[in-house]
Amino acid sequence: MSTYKIAVIPGDGIGQEVLQEGIKVLNKIAELDNSLQFEYTYFPWGCEYYTKHGVMMDEDGIEKLQTFDAIFLGAVGYPGVPDHISLWDLLLKIRKGFDQYINIRPIKLIKGATCPLKDVKREEVDMLFIRENSEGEYAGAGDWLFKGQENEVVLQTGVFSRKGTERVIRYAFETAKREGKSLTSISKGNALNYSMVFWDQIFAEVSKEYPDVKTASYLVDAAAMLMITDPKRFEVVVTSNLFGDILTDLGAALAGGIGLAAGANINPERKYPSMFEPIHGSAPDIAGKGLANPLAAIWSASQLLDFLGYEHYGKLVLKAIEEVLVEGKVLTHDMKGKATTSEVGDRAAEIIQSLASIKA
Ligand code: NAD
Ligand code: IPM
Ligand code: MN
Repeated sequence: MSTYKIAVIPGDGIGQEVLQEGIKVLNKIAELDNSLQFEYTYFPWGCEYYTKHGVMMDEDGIEKLQTFDAIFLGAVGYPGVPDHISLWDLLLKIRKGFDQYINIRPIKLIKGATCPLKDVKREEVDMLFIRENSEGEYAGAGDWLFKGQENEVVLQTGVFSRKGTERVIRYAFETAKREGKSLTSISKGNALNYSMVFWDQIFAEVSKEYPDVKTASYLVDAAAMLMITDPKRFEVVVTSNLFGDILTDLGAALAGGIGLAAGANINPERKYPSMFEPIHGSAPDIAGKGLANPLAAIWSASQLLDFLGYEHYGKLVLKAIEEVLVEGKVLTHDMKGKATTSEVGDRAAEIIQSLASIKA
């Protein structure tokens, strides 16, 4: 029997609703496989916790999470607590605290999902974004000078270390090599005359070690345009923290909607736990109504299974997501359906059960 300890942080808004459905699916997998078990520990951290306790997570929160095999998170941030506090004191604190320097975000138009563009073939939207997740524009470095005065100035400094830049680019090359795909770097060396010139230089340096990997490099503005006009150009993509944040929401729209987009925050060395979460936020506009699409959280559960070494179950969960979309009967409003969040989760779990019994 293998037992995995999962730290569950539902967080705020729809994060709480969708995460339950991700767990429903993990439980279904455990039910089907007697040798596998998940042990969940819930952490009620988030904006509500902040209003009661004055902190987003316990002071020793990072220490508390250290012993888990993985972290499963819903979403963080809610009106009433400034976003820069809620995010810096919980989500970003975990990403940084556990050196989860790789953020893997698949942008893949799976069966049953609808691309908003005309005439796009399914296989043309199949990208794997590898976003730098520990520094760059999210270094948190800056200053606020002459507050309230006429000459007030704020500085927000991007920090690109050689180690930080090289490791994410190398990880992306390894991924592209393993998968036999091309690698595209997205940067902005024309305007960002320190950080992105450095990024491009390191990309060129590391690429010499991978002569078999076909590469391309685009400026981020052109890349945003090309993702719409010619998405098939992009296979594995490596980019900085902020550019990756923005382009993956764009990519989510391209691949059928933000309600489907999943992400994994990985510490490749496995020195610290990795964290799995949908890429969407807490969606205060629809929270508490059972309207949220749980498929992104369920896809994140699939990534979690992959990460723990159960790729066959990861694939099974992804197949179930496709089936839910293809049959099109139990979908939330963002997918033009009328079902609730938990009905979609129930349907995904049922499909997993029936796919598994076909196999058996
Ligand atoms: P958002 O992703 O929460 O919502 C954007 C839009 O997409 C909304 O109209 C929302 O209803 C819709 N949407 C998002 N997820 C959906 C789902 N699963 N099903 C159906 N519709 C969905 O982004 P926002 O409104 O810019 O941010 C809201 C809050 O979430 C802010 O506090 C922000 O800082 C935070 N946020 C957190 C995370 C995270 O925890 N990883 C990510 C993004 C934003
Ligand atoms: C995401 C989110 C976060 C980010 C925010 C909430 C800090 O937008 O995970 O995409 O920018 O990384
Ligand atoms: Mn984002």
